[in-house]
Amino acid sequence: MKNLTSTLLPSFFAATLLAACGGEKTPETPTPPTPAATTQAAAPAAVMTIEQRGARIFKRCQACHTLEEGGRNKVGPNLWGVYGAQAGAHEAFAYSKAMKAAGITWTEETMDAYLKKPAEYVPGTKMSFIGLKKQEDRDAVQAYMKSKTTPQ
Ligand code: HEC
Repeated sequence: MKNLTSTLLPSFFAATLLAACGGEKTPETPTPPTPAATTQAAAPAAVMTIEQRGARIFKRCQACHTLEEGGRNKVGPNLWGVYGAQAGAHEAFAYSKAMKAAGITWTEETMDAYLKKPAEYVPGTKMSFIGLKKQEDRDAVQAYMKSKTTPQ
């Protein structure tokens, strides 16, 4: 083992050095990517996480909604703990009759339908928001909402 390391390492460094200096004599020798180089190359191309995309989309909701535990009601109710809750259940918020009578439990499916076209899914809702047409936007905003409104 000792022998292998001492014979392989110097030639590895030599190849790296040659490549680093332009290495005209060995154009085929690929420079072995160092871990640091890989991370640096990947960073700018890194895609936003779904929660990060959701956070951007939620900017459209936050004029009316807070997410954090004990957050205040604005034009719309605070959404802490909304998943698994009955629609219209936040005490101290004046929901529309339609929402209170909707009989909906908020799951990914019901939330998806509501966010797609609020006024169609709950006719008479007083949430004046047109809806999120794109499935990927609804998925992203839900991922974000879940991460922020669910007790960990
Ligand atoms: C213009 C203000 C406004 C905007 C923008 C808005 N909402 Fe609402 N939202 C409301 C109101 C008002 C209600 C209560 C509806 C009712 O009582 O019919 C509500 C209700 C809800 C509910 C049901 C809460 C419960 O306790 O049953 C959810 C979930 C919700 N909104 C999510 C969202 C999301 C997600 C967005 C952004 C994509 C959004 N809202 C954008 C005003 C708004």
